[in-house]
Amino acid sequence: MSKGTFYITTPIYYPSSNLHIGHTYTTVAADAMARFKRLTGYDVMFLTGTDEHGQKLQRIAKENGMEPKEYIDKIVEGVKKLWETMEISYDFFIRTTDDYHKRRVQEIFKKLYEKGDIYKGTYEGWYCTPCEAFWTETQIVDGKCPDCGRAVELTKEEAYFFKLSKYQDQLLKLFEENPDFLEPESRRNEMLNNFIRPGLEDLCISRSSFDWGIPVPIDEKHVIYVWLDALSNYITALGYPEEKEGAYQKYWPADVHLVGKEIVRFHTIIWPAMLMALGEPLPKKVFGHGWILLEGGKMSKSKGNVVDPVILVERYGVDALKYFLLREYSFGQDGVFTNEVLFNRLNSDLANDLGNLVSRTITMIEKYNGGIIPAAKGETETDADLKKLATSVSGIVEKKMDRLDFSNALEEIWKLVRRTNKYIDETMPWMLAKEEANKERLDTVLYNLADSIRIISILIQPFMHSTTKKIWVQLGLDEGQGTTWEDTFVFGKLPSGLKVKRQAPLFPRIDVAEELKALEDMGAKKTDKKQQPQDKAESKEVAKTQEKPEITIDDFAKLDLKVGTVLECKKHPKADKLLILQVKIGEETRQIVSGIAEYYSPEALIGQKVVVVANLKAIKLRGEESKGMILAAEKDGTLTLVTANIDDGATVS
Ligand code: ME8
Ligand code: MG
Repeated sequence: MSKGTFYITTPIYYPSSNLHIGHTYTTVAADAMARFKRLTGYDVMFLTGTDEHGQKLQRIAKENGMEPKEYIDKIVEGVKKLWETMEISYDFFIRTTDDYHKRRVQEIFKKLYEKGDIYKGTYEGWYCTPCEAFWTETQIVDGKCPDCGRAVELTKEEAYFFKLSKYQDQLLKLFEENPDFLEPESRRNEMLNNFIRPGLEDLCISRSSFDWGIPVPIDEKHVIYVWLDALSNYITALGYPEEKEGAYQKYWPADVHLVGKEIVRFHTIIWPAMLMALGEPLPKKVFGHGWILLEGGKMSKSKGNVVDPVILVERYGVDALKYFLLREYSFGQDGVFTNEVLFNRLNSDLANDLGNLVSRTITMIEKYNGGIIPAAKGETETDADLKKLATSVSGIVEKKMDRLDFSNALEEIWKLVRRTNKYIDETMPWMLAKEEANKERLDTVLYNLADSIRIISILIQPFMHSTTKKIWVQLGLDEGQGTTWEDTFVFGKLPSGLKVKRQAPLFPRIDVAEELKALEDMGAKKTDKKQQPQDKAESKEVAKTQEKPEITIDDFAKLDLKVGTVLECKKHPKADKLLILQVKIGEETRQIVSGIAEYYSPEALIGQKVVVVANLKAIKLRGEESKGMILAAEKDGTLTLVTANIDDGATVS
């Protein structure tokens, strides 16, 4: 019997390049939630898709000498393939270039227009093309987009506007009366204090300087602003407004929209205002999760430091990657991704804790009971303690999952994994096996271990469903033999008499040093290879956004450039591309880490006079402090240091 419906969405992705693990984060989280809700008895609708209009995509396609649709089709294919690889259980995939979506968005535009919430005017202001976002003079920072820091363009064109300001009071009320509407709380405060309370301006919702978009139904010279188009996906996918009776009636309002923190503003201000104008119910919750960062900053499609999820899946498996993403990072907060963090987590939680528990237990059942799961006889205090924990975890997990607290849900499950491992140490089955008199006790211990593993296998199913199945194979258990969610609340559901079957370890241990080396070699090979067309587009996009704006002498004066002498230089122990230098700048000697190992041997640098950006904020690179940066020039893929025949300590200006 269904407990009701559950509608969950991810953002729809821009198919401007391949997706990286940052993108897979939202989708992996949504997948775990969808699987959890299905497992616990809900009728789930899990929506994902692609956001295919806008100036940015039109430009990239053009740079690749293709029509937008032709270019995008290829990437969308890649996105779908990635979700297949990641075993994402979405129920529907929407493309904003699908006819039904375009038609329905036009209907939505008409409805808003007929209501009197859309009017024609002139847009004059700034536009960030990479973010597809409008900004006012006061919002931009030093001529840059306040969100991504890239250059904005001055835009003046005739446009249609949506009366966002009209909904100011209703939005304020929404935020004040529904603290759950936007989580986590920090983001709620940001929206309230930085956007809603200072006052909302009407929103420009059409563009006429390019044409890759859905035409404005009442004025074909214009295309609909890509965010109005994109946000509508959450209801057009359900049939709105043509078919309000079917899926829309069943699933809307959404239970939760999962979004990254930088698009919370669109989802909690523009989107609810649109729905208010349409007279439709609002989503129950928007959750703005944090970013997964690399050591140097945000993992961006345009920075060349992308971590490829396909490679991670190939090397460690889907379940391991999903577990890692949801366990390691707290869903509302930013986190830093490094290979070391990944390997340590997989080794300790998966290879050691869970993997060992299963293999130890199966081995002992084979060794001490001919591979047959015995029946339990009696109960000691230790047994009762284990059972109490084992049957209480699911209730706690339900609470954590309802708060989208994936990391702590998994931590609760791992408390049981670790408790069960401890039970082995406490009961010492190998000692019991020595005396025939202890046979009953040994049987009980083996049964309790196996049944705890059964409960664990069900608890982890939303996160790592293949591992669940693998454990069942090892236990000789078929689906239906104590494998429902309800069965996790009860101890003793595992039938005795099953024949266990030992298999390869669930999670092989990773040799950290060896694996790091293998990855580095792979990375080196990859940069040698010719780039794929879509990567090329991406690097062009970077080139464009890096066309530097004019600066004044005051901007230049902010740089403290100094001449320094390299006193010592060695290879970075953990990174092939980096050198660690000790550079003397007048009286001071400081450590600088530089990515020039491919071009210079350490010996060649000693004694060189180099130019240092001395007031650059210090950072750590692979664990080594770097205070400043050495100037180098790049041409045709080769780096050459800028050297100077000047005493160290001298200021360059
Ligand atoms: O924003 N860590 O699409 P998108 C965590 N088309 N999440 C990350 C991330 C990272 N390093 N990088 C990206 C769009 N994301 C719009 C959405 S919805 C109506 C339209 C997340 O492809 C990002 O926060 O740029 C966002 O939630 C999602 O990936 C899609 O990003
Ligand atoms: Mg984005």
